[in-house]
Amino acid sequence: MKGIILAGGNGTRLQPLTFVGSKQLVPVYDKPMIYYPLSILMLAGIRDVLFITRPAEAPVFMRLFRDGQSLGMRISYATQDEPRGIADAFRVGANYIGDEDCALILGDNLFHGADLPSLLRRSADRLKGCVLFGHIVSDPRHFGVAEIDERGRLVGIEEKPAQPRSSLAIPGLYFFDPGVVEIARRLTPSARGELEITDVLRAYLDEGRADLVWLGRGVTWLDAGTHDMLLEAAGFVRDVQQRQGVRIGCIEEIAMNMAFISADDCYRLGMEMSQSPYGQYVMECARSHRRLLALAESIDRS
Ligand code: DAU
Repeated sequence: MKGIILAGGNGTRLQPLTFVGSKQLVPVYDKPMIYYPLSILMLAGIRDVLFITRPAEAPVFMRLFRDGQSLGMRISYATQDEPRGIADAFRVGANYIGDEDCALILGDNLFHGADLPSLLRRSADRLKGCVLFGHIVSDPRHFGVAEIDERGRLVGIEEKPAQPRSSLAIPGLYFFDPGVVEIARRLTPSARGELEITDVLRAYLDEGRADLVWLGRGVTWLDAGTHDMLLEAAGFVRDVQQRQGVRIGCIEEIAMNMAFISADDCYRLGMEMSQSPYGQYVMECARSHRRLLALAESIDRS
């Protein structure tokens, strides 16, 4: 499965922060926002990723991730000249998707939860059309919303309804079969002038090929699209990291744990940032990984 990270848009709700740069590069505590969605795709086992950015910021993203090789990944770039809507990602990325399944994640969505990686991998494995996720929120009016019947089956999807039919918001992470490109090509802009992701999802639902997976209480989902949400996201990341001593969205550690790179490669990446606590953490992850490997080898020998 391939992955697309949509990281364009004008970031108007975050102005003036976004006057001179991309919203998805704004820091969320100790790392750029984009690290979080990238880390989710990596945890789902995806090594081939396309970033879609505004033309002006493409060089900055390229400087940050280059071709992805240092993370054991393949990273490519495409640009969206106008924010025509989330579903435009499948038109921009049509050649990239080709005849493969793909995951789409929005560049301002953060997810965290111990069981999340296995849930994502299971969901990707059983893909028969599209998979969307549902997460209970107190005010669903700002999101895509899933309507369910009394047996919990998905029966409707609406974009930012004034009167939501459920509290089940649809986060910005989806899995699709390659047919998504044709569906996106047939779309027409909504009343607010955008190619809506919810129209894509509804097309799959109408064909009986949309699978709703609930994200339970163990999963935290944050959309860092406003100043308050950005601060909330940073506070969440800091609290978890300080209390648990592990980092969220540390792409070097994840690349090593997913066996995309070796512990030595991870150590070298940490060394490049050794003046920062983040770099020190990456180096320590590599050291403890090496210790575990050595222990496993000695157990094997005995
Ligand atoms: O966060 C989840 C929600 O994201 C979903 O529940 C909604 O169904 C979905 O429409 C979306 O709503 P938002 O109002 O949060 O979308 P926003 O316009 O903020 O765009 C989300 C991200 O995608 C943001 O990082 C900017 C980027 N984007 C957006 C558009 C419209 C692009 O790169 N290009 C675009 O054309």
